[in-house]
Amino acid sequence: MKIAVVGTGYVGLVTGTCFAEVGIEVTCIDIDQKKIDNLNHGILPIYEPGLEEIVSRNVSAGRLSFSTNLAESIQEADVAFIAVGTPPGDDGSADLKYVLAVARAIGENLNDYCVVVTKSTVPVGTAAKVHREIEQALYLRGAEVEFDVASNPEFLKEGAAIDDFLKPDRIVIGVASERAQEVMSRLYKPFLLNGHPIIFMDIPSAEMTKYAANSMLATKISFMNDIANLCEIMGADVNMVRKGIGSDARIGTKFIYPGIGYGGSCFPKDVKALIKTAAENGYEMQVLKAVESVNEAQKSVLFNKVTEHFGGELQGKKFAVWGLSFKPKTDDMREAPSLVIIDKLLEQGATVAGYDPVAMPEARHTLGDRITYAKDPFEALIDADALLVVTEWPEFRSPNFGVVGRLMKDKVIFDGRNIYEPQQMQEAGFIYHCIGIRT
Ligand code: UGA
Repeated sequence: MKIAVVGTGYVGLVTGTCFAEVGIEVTCIDIDQKKIDNLNHGILPIYEPGLEEIVSRNVSAGRLSFSTNLAESIQEADVAFIAVGTPPGDDGSADLKYVLAVARAIGENLNDYCVVVTKSTVPVGTAAKVHREIEQALYLRGAEVEFDVASNPEFLKEGAAIDDFLKPDRIVIGVASERAQEVMSRLYKPFLLNGHPIIFMDIPSAEMTKYAANSMLATKISFMNDIANLCEIMGADVNMVRKGIGSDARIGTKFIYPGIGYGGSCFPKDVKALIKTAAENGYEMQVLKAVESVNEAQKSVLFNKVTEHFGGELQGKKFAVWGLSFKPKTDDMREAPSLVIIDKLLEQGATVAGYDPVAMPEARHTLGDRITYAKDPFEALIDADALLVVTEWPEFRSPNFGVVGRLMKDKVIFDGRNIYEPQQMQEAGFIYHCIGIRT
């Protein structure tokens, strides 16, 4: 079997590489020549643990290649994945121009049966548009080639994408023909060894599943953030409450960690897009609207605690910020809560020294010289009035608190991820603020 993956962003690159890893011949296509040149030299456009190694292993084995030649790769492919970007437009809806341009290019080059699969997160109804685009391109060429369109949403978490792909909880595939179902079953067979299923369904349901999954997870997080805030007011401890409810299998232990709001390229975008799709079709997603507004408010919770602690006077104060990416194990700064917090601190005349184990180049790109960048977490602390823990990177979990305290001007920690024990902090002489936990 041969496949083509169009788009070498996060989803495309992980998808192509993981298929190569199980022995399938894969060509990853991109229109960006520089990106392809870099990939051919082993330079990846994104940071993802383990990816570089698997890319290089599969390139050496001759199973994985990178090219700008869509025509040639499509003609050889049994399955073509569309994994290009769907940036949110001003109104929150996903912009499909890249997806549809790829569909057209596929139609212009297809010469044998192929299953064309939408892998980018796309609104319900997109696969039908892709189908139409390919059909029109074939018609204009006067070509008659059979093809099917399928929808195969991804459930990859940044930082754990390889594992999520190789050992999926489930694989969701929307198809409209038995032939496409058979091809997709064969393609995914190597990933079913851990007993988890492929769930075949109709195409609109597969498209909806992706949005429903991300929206449900975002809902869990916003709900817990609301509960955490109420715990603080009522003198309860959200860690206890989390354990208490999580042990009910119907609720589950995952994605109920309160914090400073969800970020990244997926949850905010997908929640917005689903609200929008519903509105366009005359329905109001009341729960999701609340999820979104709780999340917006939650991004300011840590800053509000800072303001309260310092009596509103932040002018000239220095803050160390540990963690800039939206979550650990990624350099992704998109919709990162750190950006909101830093903006607010700077607006009040404070200065910020930031540190992140991998996101420093991305942070420089986004924040420029508005903050200073420390070479390690400790340098950021020198003369700081307080430390803000914004992303829960493992290396922040157990620092030498003796050194932390000595470097800082004041021993004050605002922990947006609840990674320290209040009692331990108190014993070490810190004033410790966190989210929803009694201190
Ligand atoms: C998310 C989904 O988890 C993936 O299944 C999905 O494939 C992906 O979006 C996508 O649509 O492409 P990702 O955005 O990489 O993955 O990150 P998550 O690990 O889900 O975290 C999202 C945000 O929620 C982060 O800001 C994180 O800090 C926050 N979060 C997560 C919490 O605040 N509390 C939690 O308990 C869990």
